[in-house]
Amino acid sequence: MSEQKKTYYITTPIYYPSGNMHIGHTYTTVAADTMTRFKRLTGYDAYFLTGTDEHGQKIERKATEKGVTPQAYVDEIVANTKELWKLMEIEYDDFIRTTDERHIKIVQKIFRKFYEQGDIYKSAYEGLYCTPCESFWTPTQVVEKDGVKCCPDCGRPVEAMQEESYFFRMSKYQDWLIDYIETHPDFIQPPKRANEMLNNFLRPGLQDLCVSRTSFKWGVPVDFDDKHVVYVWIDALSNYISALGYLTDHDELFRKYWPADVHLVGKEIVRFHTIYWPIMLHALGLPLPKQVFAHGWLLFGNDKMSKSKGNTVYPQPIVARYGADALRYYLLREMPFGADGNYTNEAFLTRMNADLANDLGNLVSRTVAMIEKYFDGVIPAWTNVVDEATDKPLWQDCANLPKAVEEQMNKLQYSQALAEIWKVIGECNKYIDLTQPWVLGKDPEKKNRLATVLLTLAECVRFVAVLIRPFMPATPDRIFRQLGITDEKYKTWESLACFGSLPSGIKVCKGEALFPRIDIKKELEALSGADGKKEAKPEEKKEEKKPEKKEKKKAEIPEGCIGFADFEKIKLRVARVVACERVEKSEKLLKFRLSLGNEERTVLSGIAKFHTPEELVGKKLILLANLAPRKIMGIESQGMLLSAVKVNDDGSETLRLLTADPIMPDGAEIG
Ligand code: ME8
Repeated sequence: MSEQKKTYYITTPIYYPSGNMHIGHTYTTVAADTMTRFKRLTGYDAYFLTGTDEHGQKIERKATEKGVTPQAYVDEIVANTKELWKLMEIEYDDFIRTTDERHIKIVQKIFRKFYEQGDIYKSAYEGLYCTPCESFWTPTQVVEKDGVKCCPDCGRPVEAMQEESYFFRMSKYQDWLIDYIETHPDFIQPPKRANEMLNNFLRPGLQDLCVSRTSFKWGVPVDFDDKHVVYVWIDALSNYISALGYLTDHDELFRKYWPADVHLVGKEIVRFHTIYWPIMLHALGLPLPKQVFAHGWLLFGNDKMSKSKGNTVYPQPIVARYGADALRYYLLREMPFGADGNYTNEAFLTRMNADLANDLGNLVSRTVAMIEKYFDGVIPAWTNVVDEATDKPLWQDCANLPKAVEEQMNKLQYSQALAEIWKVIGECNKYIDLTQPWVLGKDPEKKNRLATVLLTLAECVRFVAVLIRPFMPATPDRIFRQLGITDEKYKTWESLACFGSLPSGIKVCKGEALFPRIDIKKELEALSGADGKKEAKPEEKKEEKKPEKKEKKKAEIPEGCIGFADFEKIKLRVARVVACERVEKSEKLLKFRLSLGNEERTVLSGIAKFHTPEELVGKKLILLANLAPRKIMGIESQGMLLSAVKVNDDGSETLRLLTADPIMPDGAEIG
């Protein structure tokens, strides 16, 4: 009987499908995929879960704005997400959606269990309430005007109010969690995040958490009190066990893989994963994940890239031009896992040229070309080895490389692991310069020495190809093909146990350059013209010349910006509210009659929760006047009103329509 493999369970956050996934989500998912592949390569039975977090007010509102149901809205984005993961060579074992029936049932069971065992209790959410804004505020958030407590948003007086809610007794578990974190130093990584959690949240004292909402419907209903939906974070965090079949009759995966080895998360959601989630698990009597690793952010300038800010880079046009492996390499190499880093096309292209085209690409092509030239393409045998002082250190370093890579990977230091591999690639290139095979090739007496040099190089290339398999899934096969390696046993981790296992007698086969050198300036021009949101068509790769010419003008526009020509397409106008009313059978929609001076428009807006119709009549609002008309609930909406949104401390949102100065005439153009 074969020995039972050790298991390894890794997860990514489940992402909000409020917009398409960008390079930030790709970063976490590529990291999880790479670790899964690495663990499998090194003999583990690995399981990789990702998915989408589909409930909540934000998604509900986005869908209303678009005039579709929340389910239809998320279905489209989830389909795009799965396409993107395929494009990035990401192979997950399961994709959980919080709208899956299998997940909803488990969340309800978990919530009920908490309630029945007294961890959740019903109470009133007490706070100071601003009715026009429909927002709760704490005493420290409100502002005082002439002794009256006022809303920090709109400045109007607030009143003391109560809303019925369920609460989780977080406070009960606080001391246990402090002790757990203190006695499990590996649990939160990097360690500074553990200190943040202890000092900023746990030691000052945990508040009981409000875990249900009655103000919106798009969520998991509390099955014993269906006025309430479960708080999105209780819903979302449960995915890590619901996907494994926890509390079902088919809980084999749960029994096999839980507790998770690592939850990969961005640093902004560490709090949920290291405070609420451990407390939930402990209350369920379950062991905690072995580790929560918080990685840094991909920044755009100094800002976190994010869907809501719109300052995002999308992987599709990059992959269409340079392949998924190049982008995966860049993401994992550029910044240490845990630290922030900027993404720029320039840094990406520079690294591609230096590390992939020059260092790796040249090493492979030179090695194969020299074996073709001097040995008719046949890899020589390890007999008659003529070694010199230059050889041993390289043999040694290459032989030690798997261990060095594994050590870094066990710490999730992807960038360091790659740096170790590239150190050996660099040594190989130096070795070529030192040994000068082209000089040895001229002297028939040096045939055995030449064979030793080329064998050394070919074996190092094989080691590198095996070691980069988890990071760059497509490139190793291209290298193995060039080296003439077809037998799978020379592509395994085990085959690296001994330097010098490369079989002799196989025939190398020169192929295309792995990563052709690129003209960075030209590529920057082409990329700045590419619309990151659209998936670039594969043909674009071949037809580089034409689009570049057309894009010349756009080349001066920095990434993430639009040119004036794009801005000019947007027609913003001042619109006076002539009439405003609620749309029948809709909790969200207000119907506006707007005056633009010489014309009137009907516009629908999903903001009934935030404004009353009466307060808006007569106001001068900002209308996006040339948005294509569309029908919502059978009424044609002819434009979009602009608003600003703010997320409150309890996760709810406050929205205000933007207004223009009243002296502006109806229809005044904005620009
Ligand atoms: O927070 N740099 O979903 P989300 C690096 N649904 N990583 C980034 C990034 C950036 N600029 N932007 C996003 C949620 N990410 C919740 C999670 S889990 C139970 C629920 C990655 O769509 C990073 O992993 O806002 C971050 O934590 C996650 O996407 C946030 O995704």
